[in-house]
Amino acid sequence: MGHAPTARSVTVRVPAKVNLELRVGPRRADGFHDLATIYQAVSLYDEVTVTPAAVWSVEVTGPDAQLVPTGDSNLALRAARMLSRTSGGSPVAISIAKAIPVAGGMAGGSADAAATLVACDALWELETGRPKLERLAARLGSDVPFLLDGGTSIGSGRGELVAPVLAPEGLLHWVLVTSQPGLSTPSVFAELDRLRGEAATTWAAPEVTAGLMVALRRGDVDQVASCLANDLTEPALALRPDLAQVISAGKAYGAMAALLSGSGPTVAFLVPDVEAGLDLSIGLAAQKVGHGVHRAHGPVPGASVTQITRA
Ligand code: C5P
Repeated sequence: MGHAPTARSVTVRVPAKVNLELRVGPRRADGFHDLATIYQAVSLYDEVTVTPAAVWSVEVTGPDAQLVPTGDSNLALRAARMLSRTSGGSPVAISIAKAIPVAGGMAGGSADAAATLVACDALWELETGRPKLERLAARLGSDVPFLLDGGTSIGSGRGELVAPVLAPEGLLHWVLVTSQPGLSTPSVFAELDRLRGEAATTWAAPEVTAGLMVALRRGDVDQVASCLANDLTEPALALRPDLAQVISAGKAYGAMAALLSGSGPTVAFLVPDVEAGLDLSIGLAAQKVGHGVHRAHGPVPGASVTQITRA
């Protein structure tokens, strides 16, 4: 059997994330904060396609496409160039079909970077080992290593050190309410520091609740609901007081719990099953709460190749 012809393009599907628990510790000397978090990948996906090209480029399609920067700062472009510098891969055109909310606290940009690493690795037939991919991912952003793996993981360091946590596939059903304008992650961390004042650099080391991991392992959704927590809620609400109405509307419609996703402004509502998710999303959409309403489940796998086109 001959060698398979070189790929003409590779497409990777990558999920969004929520943080089931996000505990923020002290601000470090490098400006980042120590985190203890439980990440979960949820079934809201971007699709990233890489194709060999004469020059590096990135284009974005989807409802919020105009909100994504397509210059040198684009995280997917930076990911491709970073992998090419260590491996010699030649330029690609990156095409992102975007469904993950932009600046929504669901790691959309990080997801695209993780997907681009996986796509270029396949296109250039590098077979880069996981440890190296994870190192490159960590340099691109705190959430990028998690999105290579997906599932449910505990994150530490600034979020880039991840280890899997046992949780049944598809255990949790979510209704995600996006809103505009987006929140920039640095501004939410800066507001947290402002609220903490002098204690910002001496804050206690962050820890996740042991009970949450037990609840996930057992598949006990009620117990998971009672453990959901995010230390960035207060600063995000200080910057976007209108989010309080989104949260109370979801609770009034019977959500088990409301959770700010990452640094927001997306609010994630936990619901018991698919039907409850449909009811809640219809109710919220009818009331015109937020900008968009999505249903999703988690955990789901991380960045995965879905298509390879051969020359
Ligand atoms: O890691 P990432 O590039 O996504 O982080 C974006 C910004 O969010 C950082 O520049 C920093 O301001 C803030 N951040 C932080 N502590 C973390 C993660 C992010 O302060 N653990």
